[in-house]
Amino acid sequence: MTDDPVVDATDAVPDGPGPTPAEDAGRHAHALLRVDSVSKVYGSGHTEVTAVADATMSVDQGEFVALLGPSGSGKTTLISIIGGLLQASSGSVHLGDVDVTSQSARELTRFRAERVGFVFQSANLVPFLTARENLLYVTSLIKGSSRSEAKARADQLLEELGLADRAGNLPEQLSGGERQRVAIGRALMNDPDLVLVDEPTAALDTALGRQVVEMLRREIKSRGKTGIMVTHDLRMVEYTDRVFEILDGELTHVEEPSALSH
Ligand SMILES: Nc1ncnc2c1ncn2[C@@H]1O[C@H](COP(=O)(O)OP(=O)(O)OP(=O)(O)O)[C@@H](O)[C@H]1O
Ligand SMILES: [Mg+2]
Repeated sequence: MTDDPVVDATDAVPDGPGPTPAEDAGRHAHALLRVDSVSKVYGSGHTEVTAVADATMSVDQGEFVALLGPSGSGKTTLISIIGGLLQASSGSVHLGDVDVTSQSARELTRFRAERVGFVFQSANLVPFLTARENLLYVTSLIKGSSRSEAKARADQLLEELGLADRAGNLPEQLSGGERQRVAIGRALMNDPDLVLVDEPTAALDTALGRQVVEMLRREIKSRGKTGIMVTHDLRMVEYTDRVFEILDGELTHVEEPSALSH
C-alpha cells in the first residue's frame, strides 16, 4: 500500500479528535486481556520452530500473573505477541475491545505507545540520558502530552520507586537494581493498561529481586493495570495472583501455585 508508508514512533500518532475523556475511560475500564489460541511458528521447512502452540489465557484488569517456564519455552515470544511487538502465526489477542492481532503497523505503534509498558530483561536504558530523562523520553513519543505534566509524572514515579535522589544519575552511575527500577518507571510513564515484564530479576540478587517485584506489584495494584511477569524464579511467583506455566510452547494455568515451591 503506497498510501500507508512505514512510519516511526514519532509521527505514528494520527492527528484529529480521539475519543473524548469519557469514552476513553469507558474503554480503559474494560482492559481485560484475552489470548485465544495463539501460535507462533518461526522459520519454515526443516528449520521450523513452534515457539508458542495454541496458547489461551485471560488476565483481568488489576491482576498480576506470572509466566513461568524454562529457557526456550516461548515466554518472550508470547509476551511480545501480546504487546503487539511480534505478529502471531494464528490466533488472536484482545485488550478490552481492541483486537491487537488485526491492527496495522501504524495502529500497533500507537497501541504500544499509549497502552503497553514493556520492561525488558536487560533494562535497556539510554546510556547518555539521566534516570529522569529516560522516563521523559517516552512521552516525547506521544503527541499532546505537555512537558510540565510529563516532568511532574516522571518525578512522582521516581519518588515512588525510591529514586528521587538518583533522578540526575546516568545509568552507569546506578546500581543494577536501580536501573531495573528506572526501567519499570519508564514502562509506567505512559500510564499503560498492560505492563509486560521479561525476567526483571535475572540480574539481581534475591533481596533486590524481591524488592523490585514487590514494587511492581504495588504499582500494578494501585494503578489498576494488567500485569504479566516472565520469570523462571519460583521465589518471585508468590508476588503474583496466578501462575501460567509454559513448556515447549504449550501453556497451562497452574491451579495451585503453592505446589510449585516444593
Ligand atoms: N526469531 C527467531 N527465529 C527462530 N527461532 C526463534 C526466534 N526467536 C525465538 N526462537 C525460538 O523459539 C523458541 C522460544 O523462544 P523464546 O525466546 O520465546 O523463549 P524464552 O522462553 O523467552 O527463553 P529464555 O528464558 O531463554 O529467554 C526457542 O526455541 C527459540 O530458539
Ligand atoms: Mg526470553
